[in-house]
Amino acid sequence: MAEVNAHMQYLRLYAVLLLCSTSLIRASGGSPLERRTSALFIFGDSTVDPGNNNYIKTIPENQANFKPYGHNGFFEGPTGRFSDGRVIIDYIAEYAELPLIPPFLQPSADYSNGVNFASGGSGVLPETNFGLVIDLPTQLRNFEEVQKSLTKKLGEEKAKEVIAEAVYFISIGSNDYIVGYLGNPKMQELHVPETYVGMVIGNLTQAVQFLYERGARKFGFLSLSPLGCLPALRALNPKGSEDGGCFEAASALAITHNKALKPVLATLEQILKGFKYSDSNFYDWLDDRISSHTKYGFKEGVNACCGTGPYGGISSCGGNRKVTEYKLCENSDEYIWWDVYHPTDRFHEQIAKALWNGPSSFVGPYNLEDLL
Ligand SMILES: *[C@@H]1O[C@H](CO)[C@@H](O)[C@H](O)[C@H]1NC(C)=O
Repeated sequence: MAEVNAHMQYLRLYAVLLLCSTSLIRASGGSPLERRTSALFIFGDSTVDPGNNNYIKTIPENQANFKPYGHNGFFEGPTGRFSDGRVIIDYIAEYAELPLIPPFLQPSADYSNGVNFASGGSGVLPETNFGLVIDLPTQLRNFEEVQKSLTKKLGEEKAKEVIAEAVYFISIGSNDYIVGYLGNPKMQELHVPETYVGMVIGNLTQAVQFLYERGARKFGFLSLSPLGCLPALRALNPKGSEDGGCFEAASALAITHNKALKPVLATLEQILKGFKYSDSNFYDWLDDRISSHTKYGFKEGVNACCGTGPYGGISSCGGNRKVTEYKLCENSDEYIWWDVYHPTDRFHEQIAKALWNGPSSFVGPYNLEDLL
């Protein structure tokens, strides 16, 4: 009997402890840096740029801070996002219960939940769109600035903790292949595709190591899509509508890139202590959605909502670019593609969901929910 009583006593104590600990977790939800959710640092190109290019000197082809960008009404007006509304990373922030992550260049931006360094048009290699974008080495230097200011604000120990707990999401590479290689005959003369992909992967690996050396541990990667099926590349396809109309050479570069990145990430996981990552099979995922768009709720999987010419594939959305005449579809929610290169808000939501907690056939070894 006494023994049973003691056991009950213990259970009661345990229950009280449990209650205390859950309320402690809740109480710590107040200040953003005390919260258990990690900060989010973002690097890359227009797939994740929230408006950094509004603040640099570039060409309208690399900007989206004019109508009809942002036209679905989620934001008050154009923000610089290459979408009719949100981009992937806006949804990821929402799922992680973080506020929208601000562009690094936005004046007096609050960096306490992370920062977005991405710049539309940028590539892994600095020579891609040289002088017109915030290239990846500069994005990394900007991260160092933020790290310094965090250390000043929080003290060394707390800043280290924030840096180690944060997720580093990287979405980059498409421009190296579309602009830097296929759009640059000289580069094609200098390097066969495999060598060029090796350079891109080599530099991307160095970027990851750079962040790791500064304390980053958790990484998310968006792999490359079937680039040849973007409306702009369909329009450039030398074979016209043969082979389903996608520009094969562009998609082949994406496949080679994705295949080369996979073993690199697995190796980094083995040699770098504490390195964790989330990779995705975006290529097949997108391929499936383009060919079976109606199954996923889209009426149109080939043509861009906003653009000119075949597939809406001539970059003209907004009328501020070289070609000023453009067509705008009635309902962008029905489209996979918003403009020549970029999906719609609605499609970004599906990508983000899959990255967040999608099946292991799409995202792994960790998904973003595991990491954040
Ligand atoms: C990085 O890219 C440059 C070209 O910009 C190339 O010469 C170099 O070999 C690449 N580095 C690695 C490690 O692949």
